[in-house]
Amino acid sequence: MVNLPALPHKYHTASIWLLYTAGLLPAAYGFWLGATGMLPGNPVKEFEHLLGIWALRFLIATLAITPIRDMFGVNWIRYRRALGLLAFWYVLMHFLTYMVLDQYLNFSAILVDIAKRPFITIGMAAFTMLIPLALTSNNWSIRRLGPRWGKLHRLVYVIAAAGALHFAMSVKVVGLEPWTYITLVALLLLWRPIRPHFNRWKRGSNGRPQFNRA
Ligand code: HEM
Repeated sequence: MVNLPALPHKYHTASIWLLYTAGLLPAAYGFWLGATGMLPGNPVKEFEHLLGIWALRFLIATLAITPIRDMFGVNWIRYRRALGLLAFWYVLMHFLTYMVLDQYLNFSAILVDIAKRPFITIGMAAFTMLIPLALTSNNWSIRRLGPRWGKLHRLVYVIAAAGALHFAMSVKVVGLEPWTYITLVALLLLWRPIRPHFNRWKRGSNGRPQFNRA
């Protein structure tokens, strides 16, 4: 069991805002590099890739919060909403970069792409599913939707799987990087059915699960 010192409660809100700020830095840095001509090769593609990769990273980080708590007793649940929203903002920026900088708002070409290129169809489906999750990520919606909120937000598993698949299909050769993301997403998806057994085993072996308030 990892025994991290608990973050004093008075710093919780500040730490969440710090996460939002730090989380948006890769996009800001990538944009600055692109705007100043410092992105190598095709700057639009590079920026689009950077945003797509960070979207996937934040999706994975969102899904990792529960297994980390189950396995190591570290409770970072307070950061889950911020991580999920960061994933949404990155997908939105990735999509806007594709629409504006890549396709020059040529809507007929965009529609043809969405309909005819399976990896874009899958990316679009993932993005569409993310929208209701982002819109209902507030306390009011959680109260309003009750148990339906949890059911709706299970879509994040489908979205992460679709995101990883979209990545793998977007590259000519599925090398180490896409495989790493596919494996991480697969492990996080597998955790869902394993989780009740693991927690039962943990309760059986050392009483009730202990959560650190890191
Ligand atoms: C959850 C949603 C999405 C995720 C996680 C995601 C993530 C990614 C990732 C990781 C890549 C590969 C980056 C690389 O090669 O290094 C990629 C490529 C790409 N994505 Fe997405 N994406 C999503 C949705 C979308 C949507 C909605 C569109 C447009 C409708 C889109 C368009 C593209 C395009 C065009 C590329 C390939 C660019 C190229 O190599 O030519 N993606 N995406």
